[in-house]
Amino acid sequence: MRVGFIGTGEIAAAMVEGLSGRGHELLLSERNAQVAATLKGQFADVQVAANADVVAGSDVVFLCLMADVARDVLIALPWRADHSVISVMVDVPLADLARLCAPAHDIALTIPLSAVAVGGSVLPCHPESRALIELFGESDTIINVPSEAGLNAHFAASALSAPLLTLMQTGSQWLADQTGDPQGAETYVAGVFAGFLRQMSEQGADFDQLLQSLATEGGLNATLKEDMAHAGAPDALRAGLNNLKPRLGI
Ligand SMILES: NC(=O)c1ccc[n+]([C@@H]2O[C@H](COP(=O)([O-])OP(=O)(O)OC[C@H]3O[C@@H](n4cnc5c(N)ncnc54)[C@H](OP(=O)(O)O)[C@@H]3O)[C@@H](O)[C@H]2O)c1
Repeated sequence: MRVGFIGTGEIAAAMVEGLSGRGHELLLSERNAQVAATLKGQFADVQVAANADVVAGSDVVFLCLMADVARDVLIALPWRADHSVISVMVDVPLADLARLCAPAHDIALTIPLSAVAVGGSVLPCHPESRALIELFGESDTIINVPSEAGLNAHFAASALSAPLLTLMQTGSQWLADQTGDPQGAETYVAGVFAGFLRQMSEQGADFDQLLQSLATEGGLNATLKEDMAHAGAPDALRAGLNNLKPRLGI
C-alpha cells in the first residue's frame, strides 16, 4: 500500500517505525525536515516529499498535524474520492475533515500512542476503517468505537498516560531515594506494572480482580490506596477528565 503522512512529528514517526518493513511505500511530508530526514535515513521504504506530492502519491493518508495548522494546510491538497484518510488529530471533527479533504469520503479518526512503533498497542477508531485494519490489524488491537463522541472520550482517556506515568515515576524516584539505585528502582516499578498488564492481556484479568488481589485489610497496598483517596487523588483524576469534555464535545 502507498501510505502518506501529512505532518512528520512525534506520532507520525512512531507510526512510520511501526509500519516500516511490512511491504508498504511510506511517503512523508517534509516537515519536520529533521524528523523526515532521520526516518528516511533509518528505513529503506521511506521517501520524503512536499505535502501535495504526498497526497497525490498515496492510497492512504494519515493526518498528523496540529489542529490549527490542519485547517489551513489540508484544504489546499489534491484529494481524490478514492483516498482513505485517517486522522490522528484531536480537535478536528469528522465534519470538518469531510470539508477539508473533499472529495475523499473514506475518513476515520484514530488515536495512536507511541507504542504503535513496537506493535501491541491499542487503536480506537471511528468509523471503522478498512485501511487501518489492513495496516495495523495484525500488529495492534483495533477497537471500533460506534460514535465520534465515544472516540473523543478515548482521546480524553489517552490523557491518563502522562499522569499515570508520572505517578509511577514518582514512586520509582521515591524507591531510588531509599535504595540509591535509580536504574533498579525503575526496572522494579516498570516490571511490577508490566506484570499486571500481562495478566490482563494473557489471562483476561480485569481491574477489579487485580485490585481485589491487592485489597488485604491493613496491607501496604490498601493503606497507601486509602491515603491517596483521602488526599483526593481519584477525585482529582475524574475532575481532570471531566474538564476535558467541553473541548472534546462530549
Ligand atoms: N504525540 C502523541 O502521542 C499523539 C497521540 C495521538 C494523537 N496525536 C495527534 O497528532 C497530531 C500531531 O501531534 P504530534 O505530537 O506528532 O505533534 P508534532 O510532533 O508537533 O508534529 C506536528 C508536525 O506537523 C508539522 N507541520 C507543521 N506545519 C506543517 C505544514 N504546513 N505542512 C506539513 N507539516 C507541518 C510539524 O513540522 P515542524 O516541526 O516543522 O513545524 C510537525 O512535524 C496532533 O493533532 C495530536 O493531537 C498525538
